[in-house]
Amino acid sequence: MEAVSQVIGEKAEFVWKQLPPEIGKPLTITVEEYQKLSDAIASGEPINCSDAADSCLPLVDAINNGNHHAVLKAVQSHHNYTYVHSMRVATLLTLFAHGIGIKGDDLLVISTGGLIHDVGKLVTPDQILDKPGKLTDEEWPIMRDHVTRSKELLGDATDISKGALIIAGQHHEKLDGSGYPLGLKGAELNELARMSVIVDIFGALTDARSYKPPFPQEKAFGILEEMGDKLDRRLLKVFRAIFEPGSDKLAKASSAMVKAHVA
Ligand SMILES: [Fe+2]
Ligand SMILES: [Fe+2]
Repeated sequence: MEAVSQVIGEKAEFVWKQLPPEIGKPLTITVEEYQKLSDAIASGEPINCSDAADSCLPLVDAINNGNHHAVLKAVQSHHNYTYVHSMRVATLLTLFAHGIGIKGDDLLVISTGGLIHDVGKLVTPDQILDKPGKLTDEEWPIMRDHVTRSKELLGDATDISKGALIIAGQHHEKLDGSGYPLGLKGAELNELARMSVIVDIFGALTDARSYKPPFPQEKAFGILEEMGDKLDRRLLKVFRAIFEPGSDKLAKASSAMVKAHVA
């Protein structure tokens, strides 16, 4: 099975090389970088966040140029779901930040944070990561542990930005304190953490897995809205508005609050 999915992955990477460079390059460069991150972790070397940031430059260009739809669609053909999810979170989070007026280096920090937010999953057993169904009471703590592992792995990096650490460490925290690993709540979670959890859930809902089809955008937003006080309702409204035309004024109101937590 591993050999089959490897061939599928290589096929996806081959197809990406045939795409227009503005679509293919963000994918070919980040998948190579993700493999390097995986190799570094396997051999116990520190993660190089500057290289990860460099690999996100074409993605930031793609978003600045309105090419995110094609990137989000093409990435799904890759067999490594942790990479696919990470790249989709990077794209959606950068799109969210871009939509509220974040620019330049700040946008790159957020994009990098998205790409590396789940690096701890690179040490989570595949049978738990790829389990086609609900995890058992014994399996859940192992899955949840990926956040602590990400924090440990990224904590050893000397070139990690504050914003990327927040995204990696707090993308499963919920405003009502019901999230993990720390159960942070309310004012303990800044705008960047609040954006990350919205995007992480939205990304997972709109993605295809072996056990579920991709949910349409509207259904995904419906589920997020039903989560009530677990998520920042204002930011959720801002994120939703980015997918709808004529939303500029509402979105831009948040940029100063996010910028304060990035660098
Ligand atoms: Fe995660
Ligand atoms: Fe995630």
